[in-house]
Amino acid sequence: MILIDGKKIAAELREELKQEVSELKAKYNKVPGLTVILIGDMAPSQIYVRNKEKFANEVGLKSEVIRYPETIEEKAVLDKIEELNKDESISGILVQLPLPNHIDKQKVIETILPGKDVDGFHPMNVGNLSSGYESSVPCTPLGCYLMIKKIEPNLSGKKAVMIGRSNLNGKPMAQLLLKENCTVTITHSRTKDLKAECLEADIIVAAVGIPELVKADWVKKDAIVIDVGINKTDKGIVGDVAFDEVSKVAKALTPVPGGVGPMTIACLLKNTIECFKRSLK
Ligand code: GUN
Repeated sequence: MILIDGKKIAAELREELKQEVSELKAKYNKVPGLTVILIGDMAPSQIYVRNKEKFANEVGLKSEVIRYPETIEEKAVLDKIEELNKDESISGILVQLPLPNHIDKQKVIETILPGKDVDGFHPMNVGNLSSGYESSVPCTPLGCYLMIKKIEPNLSGKKAVMIGRSNLNGKPMAQLLLKENCTVTITHSRTKDLKAECLEADIIVAAVGIPELVKADWVKKDAIVIDVGINKTDKGIVGDVAFDEVSKVAKALTPVPGGVGPMTIACLLKNTIECFKRSLK
């Protein structure tokens, strides 16, 4: 079994990005800038944002975090986004989710200029991705995709099963794999026989938030299994895949932690650089 070392692949990707940033700096005398807006003090969001800042600095991006209290008014956030849209030194804007209930997530996402939408959440980017055009691609599925391609460069004709249909993971992941000529099935909570669907799969991407849902007898021998889950349980953080047993049948599997997580952040940096390069065109 191949343990897909997301930490290592992400470190390699950051090294390439660092090189690219230094070349861009030499050529244009400026570097891509990423601004993250963090509202409230939810612990997981604080940790993500701290890591984003740390790695953005590591690859040489201009990085800023704007922190607002939980009680900030929606208008103040939208006004700040408008200001950042106009700021030429900012290539990418990310508003950390989830948001407090009084702030409309859709409004926030749609206020970010599509060209600065490093999350790939704006309807323009979602549409472009599904049409197969150039777009920002959500960071988590992009990270999963890059890991899958490391294991299997030619995905044509493979059967891929997404578990979960979220805008964050399942749907964009399906688009990426469709583009690679996979036959894609998106499953969800109303799927009749999830185990039977998984048993057909050459590639499984689990992103539902149910601890250790995917068992060894759900997985075809030699399947590639990507675990997007991060679930807090009595025995610590576990993914959506029963790691110990699935590792005995899968060809390749991502660990939790150390799989998808580090790749997500590296892909955010990659997206920021892509937005910068597209803005030069
Ligand atoms: N919260 C958890 N994951 C994400 C993500 O990919 N983007 C944003 N903006 N917020 C998140």
